[in-house]
Amino acid sequence: MVGRVLVSSQNGTWFFSPLSSLSSRSKHVKDRFHFRQNPFSLLSLKSAMLYSCRSQLQSHQEQSTSAEPFVLTTPLYYVNAPPHMGSAYTTIAADVIARFQRLLGKKVIFVTGTDEHGEKIASAAAAHGSSPREHCNVVSHAYKMLWKDLDISYDKFIRTTDPTHETIVKEFYSRVLANGDIYRADYEGLYCINCEEYKDEKELIENNCCPMHLKPCIPRKEDNFFFALSKYQKSLEEILSQNPNFVQPSFRLNEVQSWIKSGLKDFSISRASVDWGIPVPNDKKQTIYVWFDALLGYISALSQDKEQPTLQDAITSGWPASLHLIGKDILRFHAVYWPAMLMSAGLRIPKMIFGHGFLTKDGMKMGKSLGNTLEPNDLVHRFGSDAVRYFFLREVEFGSDGDYSEERFINIVNAHLANTIGNLLNRTLGLLKKNCHSTLAVDSNIAAEGSEFMNTVEELVEKARAHYDNLSLSSACEAVLEIGNAGNLYLDERAPWSRFKQGGSSSEAAAKDLVVILEAMRIIAIALSPVIPSLSLRIYEQLGYSKDQFDTMTWSDTKWGGLKRGEVMAQPKPVFARIESITEGEAGGETTKKVVKAKRIPQSQGVAEA
Ligand code: MSP
Repeated sequence: MVGRVLVSSQNGTWFFSPLSSLSSRSKHVKDRFHFRQNPFSLLSLKSAMLYSCRSQLQSHQEQSTSAEPFVLTTPLYYVNAPPHMGSAYTTIAADVIARFQRLLGKKVIFVTGTDEHGEKIASAAAAHGSSPREHCNVVSHAYKMLWKDLDISYDKFIRTTDPTHETIVKEFYSRVLANGDIYRADYEGLYCINCEEYKDEKELIENNCCPMHLKPCIPRKEDNFFFALSKYQKSLEEILSQNPNFVQPSFRLNEVQSWIKSGLKDFSISRASVDWGIPVPNDKKQTIYVWFDALLGYISALSQDKEQPTLQDAITSGWPASLHLIGKDILRFHAVYWPAMLMSAGLRIPKMIFGHGFLTKDGMKMGKSLGNTLEPNDLVHRFGSDAVRYFFLREVEFGSDGDYSEERFINIVNAHLANTIGNLLNRTLGLLKKNCHSTLAVDSNIAAEGSEFMNTVEELVEKARAHYDNLSLSSACEAVLEIGNAGNLYLDERAPWSRFKQGGSSSEAAAKDLVVILEAMRIIAIALSPVIPSLSLRIYEQLGYSKDQFDTMTWSDTKWGGLKRGEVMAQPKPVFARIESITEGEAGGETTKKVVKAKRIPQSQGVAEA
């Protein structure tokens, strides 16, 4: 494909885009440029760039103060189709991190939202016979509803069609333009509508198909505005080498470094052929490229003043983000394009980008474009939000890919939540009711005297904290579940049911054992509350606490010693229902197809049978 790029500033004055500033980007692109005029000296351009990059690097290295909020984002989801389990996965993980940070006492701003502009969305709307706006309203609402059902505790939901967002995007665009980083050029290439990205021919598979979406890329020729990404090659290299934690997990850093090393190409940030988007300031015939637009949602979401939003107001409300959580497919946009755009606008870059793996079905990425999705609404309605949240976080090592199987889902959830946790609580409360009138005989500190069990719990809690902190979410779940396993072992070894029968000091010791287990349950409820918030609340309520007390607890409450003598526990009621599989044959039907569902347990009162 022959590409041709003519370079000019946006208002029509052509300028020289120095080859040196295009750095070592591929010959492929260099060959496409024809330079006409040069109103800027190379020196001033270079020093402006260096200034902006240095200040960026310095500010990036500044330590965050405890007063700074913890700003956490999910990607803004495309509204071409309703959410699927892959989209829910990122948001569940983000919610766990947000809840953990709140437990640590941080002020958290958890941002999520929808990415509503661009060709892909306009085509999806047309296919449904709706206007783009109507279509976006419906799908964006579906995301909000799913987040509610999944107990997602977001603080800000940004839609890229919000007027506030549009104002911020235009202001940001103008800053980048003023910094001399936007120029006009013709471009010809192959475009993947699903990625919303021009592709290099060498990236494509047979018949010019996109390797991710398996659909042919379309030849496009456009007069676009370009962002001078290549100018930021050196600064990006420096950022990555000086801040190795910027991209996580660490094995993804190499990937990003090698993209940069292979030479950064300027990219087109407007579309002449797309109406459904934010108009380019001073050129109403073009709309802003959907990625340039959407990334800014992370900043516009912070905006406080809806009447007169400004970039500065949004920035002072929490920027830079502490963590962008994304899937690995959109790492290049976040770890390369986005920091360069921010540098160009003189803004700080985010502190960390974490690219998780994919949920797969039969080894292929589950996704809206391939249509091989898993329905999260269906899973939540059959099994409840705690089961769904727990399974995906516990089963998929955060950062790696993971395949879904219903059999595994049921086994894990039943073994961990129903048996290890639910049954332990239930049988302990049953014994307490029968032998101690549901009342604690001693303080939990006294109950644990001379026992190794308390130390084990404290060590595991500390492990869980460290894992949450490192975003090793599966290991955090595992560490807390270990407390449950240790509790079950303790109960089985001590067999308080027989010691109660012996009376006297044996009975006193048995009463202490129950306090020990219930204290461990209290700690499990707190430590696992980021992952299974509803179930944790039900456990907490069984231990005699109120919802207000649950809502105000902090991580420091995981310290041993919370339960006190004389406290009265609730009547034992199962907190988590086992998932039963009934074959239709058993249920009266003729086939042997499995019908699998969990019995419902009301939000904050466990009443179903375990
Ligand atoms: N709109 C862009 C993001 C813009 S952010 C400023 C986009 N949207 S998306 O809806 O296609 O994808 C959103 C997120 O969902 C991405 O992080 C993507 O990796 C994630 N997932 C989509 N399918 C997935 C799986 N099958 N598994 C795990 N996550 C995947 O990209």
